[in-house]
Amino acid sequence: MNSEAKKQHVAVLGLGYVGCVSAACLASLGNRVTGIDRDSDKVRNVMNGVAPFFEPGLEELVRENVSARRLTASTSIAAIADADIALICVGTPSEKNGNLGLDQMKRVISEIADTLPGRSKPLTVAIRSTVFPGTCEDVVAPLFGGNPLVSVVSNPEFLREGTAVKDFMEPSLVVVGGTDAAAVARVASLYESLQVPPCLVGVRTAEMIKYACNAFHAVKIAFANEIGALSSRLSVDPGEVMATLCEDKKLNVSPAYLKPGFAFGGSCLPKDLRALNYRGNRLDLRLPLLESALPSNHHHLQRAIDAVLDLPARRLGVLGLAFKENTDDLRESPVVTLLEQLIGKGKDVRIFDPHIQMESIYGSNRNFLLQQIPHIGRLLDSSIDQTLQWADHLVIAQKLSPELTAKVKERNLPVTDLVGSSLAYIKSPVAVAAS
Ligand SMILES: NC(=O)c1ccc[n+]([C@@H]2O[C@H](COP(=O)([O-])OP(=O)(O)OC[C@H]3O[C@@H](n4cnc5c(N)ncnc54)[C@H](O)[C@@H]3O)[C@@H](O)[C@H]2O)c1
Repeated sequence: MNSEAKKQHVAVLGLGYVGCVSAACLASLGNRVTGIDRDSDKVRNVMNGVAPFFEPGLEELVRENVSARRLTASTSIAAIADADIALICVGTPSEKNGNLGLDQMKRVISEIADTLPGRSKPLTVAIRSTVFPGTCEDVVAPLFGGNPLVSVVSNPEFLREGTAVKDFMEPSLVVVGGTDAAAVARVASLYESLQVPPCLVGVRTAEMIKYACNAFHAVKIAFANEIGALSSRLSVDPGEVMATLCEDKKLNVSPAYLKPGFAFGGSCLPKDLRALNYRGNRLDLRLPLLESALPSNHHHLQRAIDAVLDLPARRLGVLGLAFKENTDDLRESPVVTLLEQLIGKGKDVRIFDPHIQMESIYGSNRNFLLQQIPHIGRLLDSSIDQTLQWADHLVIAQKLSPELTAKVKERNLPVTDLVGSSLAYIKSPVAVAAS
């Protein structure tokens, strides 16, 4: 840790699971830490060097740091007076309707705001509690009434109860989001000695990442349990199936398939999901997560179709027809559904796909094109130049090669990029992929 980080005085607001662990760990990293909680029992415990709840390794850390005078605690918000950073760790429990409860957050922020008159030192308020995107900007910052001494940043926590101290000291992820570079750097420096480079992102992104991570963890567990349940019913060892699945670090346990983009299709994923769900049904096994994948995909496709239908364009050039790039396979291509709805609504469309040319495709694909979707086949251009010359708006429905990307860029038409990444540099009027 550098000397600047050591000098920080951190006030930790809320000495619950997150706050107490953060306070003890930050103190053990050399910071001066004051824990503040309305609960006098928690404060008394900490002052006596006792952890207010069970968490492996916490009691020792609290004891060591209280006796080394790096950690102290108080029930009074006035203890924030000398702090450089206020780390907000109050609870954000669910309301009855599932919405996030911000009562504790609003109250603690108002209490901090009340201490500001007479303050001359800047204060970085880092929101460690889990809050919905927009909370820092729309709820927290306004409560400070634009006071120039205060900067608000998002610094979500990813620790798990039961391994919280270890998770703090060996974090899986450090995220800091904000617009004030100095405040972001001040908060990031708290974690400098932990050897995990912080991800510095926008404040709303930081808030959203926490939800994305927890949703991902929940979906992973539900997935493993559903595959496990189905495996058991089919007399297959669930542990062996999932352990073997995890051996694939290229497609399974990897960033593959984790980019927001267009709907999936093709000859395998829809077919195999249908077969799994059919089997589950026959076995009277409810598999809600696996059953939801195709409807989810359908909704995603429909959002894209609605966005394209809403475009003010007269002549739509669709780039890509196969279900993904570098194939001419049209089976269950979401682009076919897209085109059918566009044509059905009377839109003027032309299509270019580098691997689907009437003169060169043959076999089942040619038959499919000529017999099942002849109305689409008739709209195919044989070169991208034809499509680019004719269209007044482009819809990117598959990742393009660098050569095609260059041509699209050169033509400089308005673009709606359904696949999300290949043309990220072109302004898209509709953020379909991320919607
Ligand atoms: N528990 C976890 O594993 C975990 C992990 C990551 C993130 N989070 C998030 O961190 C936040 C805190 O979670 P937690 O489990 O530590 O909550 P908690 O309920 O254990 O602790 C919250 C603490 O805040 C105190 N508090 C409330 N209002 C206060 C005020 N005005 N002034 C001072 N203290 C006040 C409460 O007395 C309590 O001790 C939540 O948003 C949660 O979603 C929790």
